[in-house]
Amino acid sequence: MSSNVKFSIKTKLFIAVCVTAAICVSLPLGFAYYLLKADLAADAQSIARQKLELTKRLYLKSDGKSIKARIAAVSNMLGEEVGFISSSGKMLATTLWADESWNLSRSEIRAAKVDGTGFHIQQSPDENLSSIYCAIKVSNHLDAPEGYLIIKESLSTLNERIGMISKVFFWAIPAVALLCYGVIRFVTLHLSSSVKSMVRTAEAVGQGNYKRRIRNFPDKEFIQLAKSINWMAERIDEHVTIITSQKNKIQAVLNGMWDGVMVMDCNCRIQSVNRKLINIFPGAEKGLDRSPLEIIPSPELQDACAEVVSPEGPEAKTVQLVLPTGHIYDVNIVRSPHTVEPGQGPGAIAVFHDISKIKRLETMRQDFVANVSHELRTPLTSIKGYAETLLNEPAPPENIQKSFLETIEKNANHMCKIVDDLLNLSRLESGKEQGHFIPLDPMIALSNAWQACCALAEKRNVKLVAAINKNQFKVQADPDQLMQLFRNLLENAIKYGPENKPVVVNHLVEGDRLKFTVQDEGIGIPAIDQPRIFERFYSVEKFRRNEFGSTGLGLAISRHIVSNHGGKIEVQSPPEGCPRGAAFIFTLPLAKKSA
Ligand SMILES: Nc1ncnc2c1ncn2[C@@H]1O[C@H](COP(=O)(O)OP(=O)(O)OP(=O)(O)O)[C@@H](O)[C@H]1O
Ligand SMILES: [Mg+2]
Repeated sequence: MSSNVKFSIKTKLFIAVCVTAAICVSLPLGFAYYLLKADLAADAQSIARQKLELTKRLYLKSDGKSIKARIAAVSNMLGEEVGFISSSGKMLATTLWADESWNLSRSEIRAAKVDGTGFHIQQSPDENLSSIYCAIKVSNHLDAPEGYLIIKESLSTLNERIGMISKVFFWAIPAVALLCYGVIRFVTLHLSSSVKSMVRTAEAVGQGNYKRRIRNFPDKEFIQLAKSINWMAERIDEHVTIITSQKNKIQAVLNGMWDGVMVMDCNCRIQSVNRKLINIFPGAEKGLDRSPLEIIPSPELQDACAEVVSPEGPEAKTVQLVLPTGHIYDVNIVRSPHTVEPGQGPGAIAVFHDISKIKRLETMRQDFVANVSHELRTPLTSIKGYAETLLNEPAPPENIQKSFLETIEKNANHMCKIVDDLLNLSRLESGKEQGHFIPLDPMIALSNAWQACCALAEKRNVKLVAAINKNQFKVQADPDQLMQLFRNLLENAIKYGPENKPVVVNHLVEGDRLKFTVQDEGIGIPAIDQPRIFERFYSVEKFRRNEFGSTGLGLAISRHIVSNHGGKIEVQSPPEGCPRGAAFIFTLPLAKKSA
């Protein structure tokens, strides 16, 4: 419980008004009481003085009698209690008091001694009444001794009035308090109803309902406050809208990035991640307020992030992540003071850049250079060897020289083929040579291709069986590329197929495409090699390639030609329904009828 007792406005107002009212009531009442009491005492004194004078006159008139008789007579005549005390202080006669407590030291007698008359108001403790004692000096007269006549007057009127005033006092205070309470309750009820509507609006704004406003304006005193609350709510609404739109923009930028982004605070706790990072590490969105290690199992990354957020650590760091999926990411972690709350240390931003493709291309480039060097080196070594032998002294016999020169020519031709194929492939890959696509009869391209390899076919006694008639179909293709494609596949079928067995070319219409199959009955291609068969320089059995002076680029070129035509090429080995052999299947777009 709080030690500071808090009073409500109602209580405070009540206490303040009661105190003010008490002061306002008691001051005039007290003053009136004081004045009234003084007036009443003065009146009583004046009446008592007249009675004293009368008493003295009557006392002096009744001479010749004893003092006691005179006093009794005066008392009878006036109906008052009267006493006489000698100047020596002895009570000589009295109808009042039999006691001897009377003496000259009483205040009324001392006053009478000096001024002729004296008064003294005395409160009777038993009766709770006030009485006034009055004394008048009597000089020596005839036989009457010198002394003081004393009478006692009851101050009943004074007592009554004072009693009345006390009663008024007694009832006035609670009555005023009650009145104050009533007034204050009315005022505070009205106040609190005004304040409540403002409180409700302020609470609603606090809970995020920034559109809430005070519609019914309260009393004049609160209009300014209500306007201020409305203005404040409007400003908050505006700022929240601006912040939300900025946040959305930042989030949109982050989500639109190709790279994964992770924002961390000064304690290396993840504050936000973008959509790409969630794609890379599913479940990363649940890692907010956790350490990177909890969503990415890489202690190296965790250490690097911790180092960057530490003030003594480096401003930036790069680590490489290799995922089980084979993807490789360069993670650049940069310290960023803008990612943290004011007063906190710097945070960090980690950007995950996918370098798998670059790595793959780099590996491919290295392989390519190694392959080209290797492919060129073999014929070049042979050319060099034979050329050196020819230059040696003594020169070899003429028939040997001829055979050496033939070998040199063969190797030079092979090198030329490699270079030509590489240039061809490079043009196709770069997209510079898209081709000149026209509607053409595939049968023409097929027969031209067969012509080009008929020497080899004859040598191996291989026949072409094609189920396509001339002018049956037209495809939208580049004539040179289509002939090259057929040639590569027919050559392979002749080379790697068995002797004395035909090569079969089939076709099938599939929607707006024509599907070709070039099939042989050879040894086929093992399943493990099939996915790589279209790579440059890839061959299943190198020794067979050398037999035909192959370069290993034929299928790579074929794949590019087919994809240039918007088709696909695949290998089936063994072909469907056959025990052995290989079938290369590719599609080409049919030419439009009107064309
Ligand atoms: N019909 C086939 N039957 C069996 N293996 C084949 C067949 N066609 C291709 N191959 C295999 O695929 C490899 C790649 O063929 P590709 O046509 O690309 O190169 P190449 O024939 O060796 O040389 P190039 O065609 O450049 O003269 C060949 O070396 C061979 O091992
Ligand atoms: Mg080939």
